[in-house]
Amino acid sequence: MPTSPTYPAQVRITEVGLRDGLQSEAAFVPTATKVALLERLMDAGVRHFEATSFVSPRAVPQLRDAAELLATVRRRPGVQLSVLAPNRKGVERALAADADEAVVFLSASETHNRKNLNRSIADSLQDMREIAGVARGAPMRLHGAIACAFGCPFEGDVALDQVEAIARQFAELGFAGLTLGDTTGMATPPLVRATVERLAARVPQLPLALHFHNTRGMGLANVMEGLAVGITRFESALAGTGGCPFAPGATGNVCTEDTVHLMEQLGVQTGIDLDALCEAARELERVLGRTLPGQVMRAGPRLRRYAAEAQAAAVG
Ligand code: COA
Ligand code: ZN
Repeated sequence: MPTSPTYPAQVRITEVGLRDGLQSEAAFVPTATKVALLERLMDAGVRHFEATSFVSPRAVPQLRDAAELLATVRRRPGVQLSVLAPNRKGVERALAADADEAVVFLSASETHNRKNLNRSIADSLQDMREIAGVARGAPMRLHGAIACAFGCPFEGDVALDQVEAIARQFAELGFAGLTLGDTTGMATPPLVRATVERLAARVPQLPLALHFHNTRGMGLANVMEGLAVGITRFESALAGTGGCPFAPGATGNVCTEDTVHLMEQLGVQTGIDLDALCEAARELERVLGRTLPGQVMRAGPRLRRYAAEAQAAAVG
């Protein structure tokens, strides 16, 4: 298939499966298993991870081993380990754990912010100012994230003005970039375009990343639209795991292998080995003990060929 000139030559994919993917799993995945998955993904060429969360262990017990995970995993040059942090305490823990980047987040919707962070948006924005002070001069970068950026399961549409206002705050505080999170899969291609175009025009100093959930089957359509409007950073989760425990109806992230497969078909470089990624996704299925939503790990890439003899034939 010819490369479409409208797509970027390469994209950065951040693997969020160990954070978003595991945060709503019923069972705690042992630290050593998480580390082994990380290693395997690094071997597959993944260079950017959101590896865990420094949130309250009472809120998200699945990630209570965040510090241990960062202390155990062997760091590799060129591999960036980001962690999610909801407040000053989280950022201080991330600093102590020598994370490369802390992703500081709040929600564009007041109701979801209260459910998720137990505070108002105004209070969260005040926290951001404090956090920017705490991290100033540290080697760890700060990256912002807006949850429910494309809609809220409690409030419905969120105003673009609200998303822009929060983005401006992150920019003014010197954050390195911003992720727009589609927490419960409410994004649509027109909304992706409108939001990205608005932020690119009004807050151009903040590089954008897109984080979609496939809750309504629109994950990859939204990725395509993001590409078409010039986005080069996407977040996705191995095997399509994921979901916010504090949002009703939340389901899996857009799947990393399926995204890499799409990029290959578009001629967009990811630096990730699809076969090795699919192997890691199957390993995650074994770890979690159930079928996960990823599709390419099951079907194989589109030109996978099967032995004809192995297939039953219809005989009339
Ligand atoms: N890491 C570890 N512990 C933390 C913490 C952090 N980042 N922030 C707060 N705590 C601890 C406090 O030390 C305190 O502990 P104590 O009771 O033993 O003294 C306790 O949590 C309550 O602290 P408080 O500041 O009152 O927090 P809260 O109860 O209002 O909860 C959050 C606020 C942000 C900590 C909590 O809602 C949270 O962790 N949310 C994360 C949600 C999430 O990860 N969602 C999925 C991603 S979208
Ligand atoms: Zn998510």
